[in-house]
Amino acid sequence: MDELFVICRTVEIEDGEATGFVLMKAEEGGDAAPWPILITRKGNNFYGFENACPHEGTRLDTNPGSFMDEENNFIECGRHHAQFDIDTGECFIGPCQGARLTPIKLVIDDGDVCVTGVMLADA
Ligand code: FES
Repeated sequence: MDELFVICRTVEIEDGEATGFVLMKAEEGGDAAPWPILITRKGNNFYGFENACPHEGTRLDTNPGSFMDEENNFIECGRHHAQFDIDTGECFIGPCQGARLTPIKLVIDDGDVCVTGVMLADA
């Protein structure tokens, strides 16, 4: 089984919102690189995505930590305002319409939100 890396408690992610984290990913050769991600919540379901707009590859939160549109319904890219579903990561409007945020495999373990399927560097 893949190793689990605890990111936060489930109660730290508000329903219908997105929270960002910058993890350190272990690269081949032993180097570590920052890996910005976001975790969203819809009811009791949690979704993880890389924090990179499929349009230009830049972070979605031009204001750090600000991921949502004005009505707080969708993930929004702060640059060109592409909007993405919070559960599928699919872009339904904007320059990358039809593309998706890169999903991250999450596991909920005893009230913790964990990422798995990647190798993180020691902090
Ligand atoms: S960088 Fe996000 S829509 Fe262009």
